[in-house]
Amino acid sequence: MVKSAYIHIPFCKSKCHYCSFVSFNKFELKNDYLKALTKEIDNYYQGEVLNTIYLGGGTPSTFEIPDIERILRRLKFNENTEITIELNPDDVNYDYLRRLFDIGINRLSFGCQTFNDDILKQINRRHNAGQVINAVKLAQDAQFKNISLDFIYGLPNQAPEIFYDDLNIAMKLGIQHISLYGLSIEKGCYFSSHLPKNIPDDDTQADMYLGAVEILTNAGFEHYEISNFSLKGYNSKHNLNYWNNEEYYGFGVSAHGYVNNIRYGNKIILENYIQNPLEHDEEKFVTGQNKLEEEIFLGFRKMSGINIEDIDIKYNIDFLEKYNDVIKKYEGLKLLKKTKGGYAFTLNGILVSNTILAEFID
Ligand SMILES: C[S@@+](CC[C@H](N)C(=O)[O-])C[C@H]1O[C@@H](n2cnc3c(N)ncnc32)[C@H](O)[C@@H]1O
Ligand code: SF4
Repeated sequence: MVKSAYIHIPFCKSKCHYCSFVSFNKFELKNDYLKALTKEIDNYYQGEVLNTIYLGGGTPSTFEIPDIERILRRLKFNENTEITIELNPDDVNYDYLRRLFDIGINRLSFGCQTFNDDILKQINRRHNAGQVINAVKLAQDAQFKNISLDFIYGLPNQAPEIFYDDLNIAMKLGIQHISLYGLSIEKGCYFSSHLPKNIPDDDTQADMYLGAVEILTNAGFEHYEISNFSLKGYNSKHNLNYWNNEEYYGFGVSAHGYVNNIRYGNKIILENYIQNPLEHDEEKFVTGQNKLEEEIFLGFRKMSGINIEDIDIKYNIDFLEKYNDVIKKYEGLKLLKKTKGGYAFTLNGILVSNTILAEFID
């Protein structure tokens, strides 16, 4: 049974220079979009009580409270449901945050990226560091007890010390969760055609990651997934659902979902989605070896790694026999380590995870 839903809100007031996510500055289409989105939800949602709902973007905080209510009221949830919304710090005030809390949102994810104001300008963020700090305080005043900040490392002119300062500031804010993303410049973003100077090289980026793990774990944060850290009890349930290879709805333009063994992708052009929100652009039936490989890829993202007994039962295989060579090779190189139930990456293993995972493909 599907227990999670991702909902994509594809509007941004401006485009950050590094970003290739599907988002548009076409606010005149907001009402048409809401109509299409609610049509999609009403058509596909089967009425399950959901464990997690995630409003992501784009910038969901460009939506008014009644818009968000209009989406949420179509879904069933209860007091245990984790309901996350992504927010841009410059969009929020106390009243907005309090009203989000009152309609049932219980987890906030702010895009901070860095606290360095010069770098924020260079990457075309709309806010400065003070606005993030203020937004977190307002959220706490509004009773939010589960707040996450996103950071990017490897930004132009971001020496490791600048990044470590970011994390040390974050640690003083009383937040519960942090996501760290290495800058990746993909086709379509401004930086892909205007490559900035002074981007930390791959080795420096790797060192920044390892330095961050040390700072955050020393501060009492559990490193529970390659890019994610939280205080005890504050793992993102929504993301764990992905990494546990469970099914989920994906609603909205460009959203991906996984329902009844089918991974599907919605239309990526806003006007096309609005015209026909029920038609998927891609659908792939996932079974057998493909499903096993996805389970391995996703499971290894968790620092607890994969559970071999579960995999053996679920896929009717002897995992250790099937993958003996690759396990032994990388265990010998100290890139994989044995855990209570299976295997997990070591920190050095994470740095070469793509190479290791490629060897699990048939
Ligand atoms: C889908 S975005 C939406 C969040 C929200 N719109 C914001 O920017 O505040 C989620 C996060 O992905 C990360 N991100 C986006 N593009 C990235 C890139 N090219 N490289 C690394 N991280 C990226 C940023 O940390 C961002 O906060
Ligand atoms: S990072 Fe967030 S705010 Fe910036 S363009 Fe991407 S989705 Fe929009």
